[in-house]
Amino acid sequence: PVRRGIVVAVTTIRATVLHTPSPDRLDVLVDQAIEIDDTGRIERIGAAGPDAHADVVLPDDTVIVPGFVDTHLHAPQWPQLGTALDLPLDQWLFEYTFPLEARFADLEFARQVWDHMVPSLLRHGTTTVTYYASIHEAATTALAETCARLGQRAFVGRCAMDHPDGTPEWYRDPSPEASIAASARSIDEIRAIGSQLVQPIITPRFIPACTDEALTGLAALAADTDTLIQTHCSEGDWEHGHVLERCGVTDAHALDRFGLMREHTVLAHATHLDDTDRALIAQRGAGVAHCPLSNVYFSERAFSARAAIEAGVRVGLGTDIAGGPSPSLFAQCGHAMVAGRRRVDEGEADARVDTTTAFWMATAGGADLLGVDAGVIEAGRWFDAVAIRLPDQVVPDGDWASRFERLVRLATPNDIRSVWVAGRQVV
Ligand code: GUN
Ligand code: FE
Repeated sequence: PVRRGIVVAVTTIRATVLHTPSPDRLDVLVDQAIEIDDTGRIERIGAAGPDAHADVVLPDDTVIVPGFVDTHLHAPQWPQLGTALDLPLDQWLFEYTFPLEARFADLEFARQVWDHMVPSLLRHGTTTVTYYASIHEAATTALAETCARLGQRAFVGRCAMDHPDGTPEWYRDPSPEASIAASARSIDEIRAIGSQLVQPIITPRFIPACTDEALTGLAALAADTDTLIQTHCSEGDWEHGHVLERCGVTDAHALDRFGLMREHTVLAHATHLDDTDRALIAQRGAGVAHCPLSNVYFSERAFSARAAIEAGVRVGLGTDIAGGPSPSLFAQCGHAMVAGRRRVDEGEADARVDTTTAFWMATAGGADLLGVDAGVIEAGRWFDAVAIRLPDQVVPDGDWASRFERLVRLATPNDIRSVWVAGRQVV
């Protein structure tokens, strides 16, 4: 059946499936028939019999994996991806990033960027993104419309920032009241699009850029409108120290006092957590968008994914574009493994992250962080998936664990053959 334009909605796909339902478990499901209902959910998955019907049969060198979930990405920083990373965070924001984000007052410029970015991310296999937009309502709504039109699952947040000391005069909300009101209007505008794929998310940039009044009001708005929240938390020494001095407690505890630490709240980075922070985040049902490549530039330490997962904290991966200069979640998986190794050097003996845990964070972990039924190819979940060619091997072997490792570490977007979101083929 043809759903929209040239896009064909498949009903049964036959292929081998690789996924990671938990941080330490890789499932290899050889030669499966995946039945997708017309809402885009997986109705049934099981071994394909010898003469099973299939609308699509994937070649032997190609497997199905869950689509990637990018839990932290600054959409208006897309034009500076791969550039301008020679300064520490506080200077980088004022020197490069705020001037660029301010340009999204121009709706035409914004539309041009979104029309370039969203298809590019889909081609990288990213089926869900948690976006920071700019402070501008029109550009933010246009981003949500672009995701709905091109079929990407997304949480889209108008960036709230009103603190006179933490933001430039030419790029800030004029008052706490204006910041809360614009965020409320943005929620309504995004919901009015009426797409099941796209949701609003309340987005106080981070404590240094927001007044106490705005942070308290945005937390109340989240409770009143039942909307998720994202923000940055303890990204590096500078932010961590700023919050300790201003609030007298760590970032996680300060966010909790403001009412922002709710179920599925997304905390970007969180490299400087202590045991009490982890316990609090786990208790609230919030979690961390782990952005390992960005942390190399802006944080003095690596995030400990192991300690977080063991404490019951939800953990997904994020690119943090453009603080992280790569759009690929495959790359982030590799960097997450490097970050685990770095934690060992920093004194945490058991901090290693293997390929399975890294891939879990990039898929099932991210979906769990956001409360989205995706990230695993099983009945009842959305069919958000990628068909990808396995990297060539010099010595072919039947060991799926090593094929999976090679896939995660060596695959490139060129190996991606198809991408589906809620059963709709988008690449
Ligand atoms: N903290 C506040 N704003 C930003 C941002 O745009 N990028 C990163 N990495 N950290 C931030
Ligand atoms: Fe960020």
